[in-house]
Amino acid sequence: MNVSVIGAGYVGLVSALGFCKMNNNVICVDKKIEKITKLNRGIPTLYEEGLEELLKECLQSRNIMFTDDIRIAVEKSDVIFITVGTPTLENWEVDLSQLNEVIREICKYIKSYKVIVNKSTVPVGTQKYIKQLLVDKGVNEENFDVVSNPEFLREGKAIYDFLNADRIVIGLDSERARKIMEKLYKPFNIEIIFTTPETAELIKYASNAFLATKISFINEVANLCDKVGADIEVISYAMGLDKRISPEFLKAGIGFGGSCFPKDTKALVKIAEKYGCNFKIVKSAIEVNNNQRILPVKILLNYYKKLEGKVITVLGLTFKPDTDDIREAPSLYIIRRLLDMKAVVKCYDPKASDEIKKIFPDINCYPNIYDSLEGSSCAIICTEWKEISSMNLEKAKLKMKEPIIIDGRNALDLNKVRDSGIIYFSIGRKRQNLKL
Ligand code: UGA
Repeated sequence: MNVSVIGAGYVGLVSALGFCKMNNNVICVDKKIEKITKLNRGIPTLYEEGLEELLKECLQSRNIMFTDDIRIAVEKSDVIFITVGTPTLENWEVDLSQLNEVIREICKYIKSYKVIVNKSTVPVGTQKYIKQLLVDKGVNEENFDVVSNPEFLREGKAIYDFLNADRIVIGLDSERARKIMEKLYKPFNIEIIFTTPETAELIKYASNAFLATKISFINEVANLCDKVGADIEVISYAMGLDKRISPEFLKAGIGFGGSCFPKDTKALVKIAEKYGCNFKIVKSAIEVNNNQRILPVKILLNYYKKLEGKVITVLGLTFKPDTDDIREAPSLYIIRRLLDMKAVVKCYDPKASDEIKKIFPDINCYPNIYDSLEGSSCAIICTEWKEISSMNLEKAKLKMKEPIIIDGRNALDLNKVRDSGIIYFSIGRKRQNLKL
């Protein structure tokens, strides 16, 4: 089929390559010309497992083109996916300005029937809103249907998730569009849930908010473990064996970050409020997370009382491993607090040194873990990158002024920590001096 994807961010680029891999002709549009130039040359614009190879494969097949010309995309496609950003505003509402801009552009070129599919996470009612916008702009109602098709991919595993999703959710109100979407997705061989647009839009928020709540729940249990001397890892494992609970998303730590959970939990609270509902449980999940992400600073303050002049190393900056994304990462909140308290912050991250410098130009990033630990009075692990989890603790200890590690991701091997003699704090793990 002829498919276009508008917006070459995480969701857009991965979807464009995924649809190309599934033997469709794809046009991927982005208004940033530098991005287009790079992509047409096979240079990835974001870090994602397997993306570079798939980009090259797709370009070689000649079934994909990247352009900033939205007109070509609209004219040549049967299905037009919109995958632009929908960030949160200060007041927790969703900013639909990029989506509005795309609709304003595409409506100029719709001359024959098109299925317009929104993949971005948008408030309930947006499908109806887009339909009305197109009508208001003078597009003939016969010439389009609007479909909601939320995306559930995880950063770092995005290509795998796109091609092997647990489910495909499609919200629509037209038989004609249903046939086209069915044809497009049939080769994926994945269960498709056809439903109303409102239900599809809410499935996405409900899924993300549920997972975020699960994380906040286990983090509260972990904090209690620290008080009572219980072990969160054994608890998570035992809970996860109950099939009704599942072992996923029960890893305690310094909380969730990224471009989705923080944004979508707030948006769901706001959407509920708009309809007179008080979504208490999601509000609490947000509040727990806000405290959890700065827990290492509280532990540190409790230990040193004052942080002025102390050299503190932050190990891992991204919101999770295997991505270069630092959006809403707990590390940002930790670094801000440390700088406010006049600590000297040093950092190491395998992928995000350039990005962090844009936010905190005065902190120093180092090319490896051990250089970043030189003269440090504490290391805070914010991301469980493999090389951080497996670092040489003896070497680390020798570099540090005071060998203290606050492991915000419960990443280190407890036996190794015990043998190293490092003073170690974690999130709800059994105390290092205890042997079972
Ligand atoms: C999340 C969802 O998992 C995807 O299904 C969804 O499509 C996506 O948001 C989105 O809305 O676009 P993502 O933000 O890539 O995906 O990240 P996750 O792997 O879900 O992790 C989110 C955060 O939760 C990370 O900071 C991670 O460290 C944290 N986390 C995750 C925990 O603290 N504990 C866990 O057990 C799991």
